[in-house]
Amino acid sequence: PIKLRVSEALSGAELGANVKVQGWVRSVRPQKKNLFLHVNDGSSLQSLQVVGRAELDDPLLTFGSAVEVSGVLKKSTHQKQPFELEADQIRVVGTCNPIDFPFKIKERHSLEYIRQFPHLRCRTNVFGSLLRVRSEATAAIHSYFKNNGFVQIHTPIITSNDCEGAGEIFSVQSSGPQDVDDGNFFSVPTFLTVSGQLHLEVVSGAFSRVYTFGQSFRADNSQTRRHLAEFFMVEAEISFTQSLEDLIKVIEDMFRSATEHVLAHSAEDVDLFHQRVTPGHRATVDAMLKKSIPVITYTEAIDILKRSSENFDFPTDWGCDLKTEHEKYVVKHCGNLPVFVTDYPYDLKPFYARDNQEHSERTVAAVDLLVPGVGELCGGSLREERLDLLRARLEDAGLADTYSWYLDLRRFGSVPHGGFGLGFDRYLQCILGVDNIKDVIPFPRFVQSCLL
Ligand code: 4AD
Ligand code: MG
Repeated sequence: PIKLRVSEALSGAELGANVKVQGWVRSVRPQKKNLFLHVNDGSSLQSLQVVGRAELDDPLLTFGSAVEVSGVLKKSTHQKQPFELEADQIRVVGTCNPIDFPFKIKERHSLEYIRQFPHLRCRTNVFGSLLRVRSEATAAIHSYFKNNGFVQIHTPIITSNDCEGAGEIFSVQSSGPQDVDDGNFFSVPTFLTVSGQLHLEVVSGAFSRVYTFGQSFRADNSQTRRHLAEFFMVEAEISFTQSLEDLIKVIEDMFRSATEHVLAHSAEDVDLFHQRVTPGHRATVDAMLKKSIPVITYTEAIDILKRSSENFDFPTDWGCDLKTEHEKYVVKHCGNLPVFVTDYPYDLKPFYARDNQEHSERTVAAVDLLVPGVGELCGGSLREERLDLLRARLEDAGLADTYSWYLDLRRFGSVPHGGFGLGFDRYLQCILGVDNIKDVIPFPRFVQSCLL
């Protein structure tokens, strides 16, 4: 027999041929004359209907068991599914005791419930859909960059720089018999990367458009619905970028292109979320794609917050950081749609952000993209390319020695440039409407929790 994936069988590949399908049982319905099974192998949200003689039934054929089915692929009379597998052999490869198995047949378990079983939740329809959307969105982002002339750079996970300087870093130490200098393997303090930006900036000294897409790590002590200790970030760096508008255009293009790709290529899986898990969210996604994203300044955002009658837990004076509650309010104010906020106070952003010297208030050319339900999705800036200004800022922070190589980038062929980082897990929250970031990543790591 020809081995088929469920998705291939569902599309009628090898119709009339002897085929074999392997997967996990999603439903079992023994009837007088016939046995009906649904088998899923992760290739599609839909399961393949298997029909066999009643004698093929086996007490070990239960929800969750692994099976291998051989038979002939036929046209089905069912309107819901055009093809079915007429089985002449069903072999139970791995049994699954339905009493102990945490998921029950025909039940729709909540995301919170399945989160308790990180080693098993991929066997549910909803998490299966999530994983396929995640994979498709990853492909969509890579294809956006490929189509727009960006070169992918593998930036390191182990690094000796703390790009953001926010202090939320994990240190790296060695252990074991080959231990060097009390665990100081690299002879300098090393960390898990918080951002690949500085490495991208190195390469952007020779390549006009580069990007990276991988893990970032932050020892964020807060248990929130949008923070992970290990998350995925999409980062791009573009040389010869003169204005924040140019950067904003790339962010918006990427957001739109990736989202349209996912809606088109993962329609069934996205619909599962938009229809069953987060009803009503599809309208928000459609509205997000309809218009171009408005741009306001930080100062305007502060004015919006000051004019509001809401009592915020945190102050809203000029110079204050925008907290999640502020971001959500600003998004609501803008029609519950995405909004870019630009020109943040100099003191709120890291050393690399470009000084807006011409502004009356001391600000930098930085931009955040705020989106409904999530708040900050993306942060970027023009980078300070002027050697004297950058050196002065690093000296003030006592970092001039640490970053002497970074200063070198401004000594040898420095150009105006800028870039951004988009939180990929938050992006999935944003398009699917998922409330908790732990439900959009296969293996969430957060404070006090590293299961598996
Ligand atoms: O705003 P951030 O800290 O920006 C940077 O790291 C820049 N160096 C990026 C760059 O310009 N190349 O992080 C970027 C994005 C945030 O907007 C947020 O979406 C996401 O990364 N992010 C997190 N996502 C999940 N969990 C966390 N703990 C996150 N911290 C940041
Ligand atoms: Mg940020």
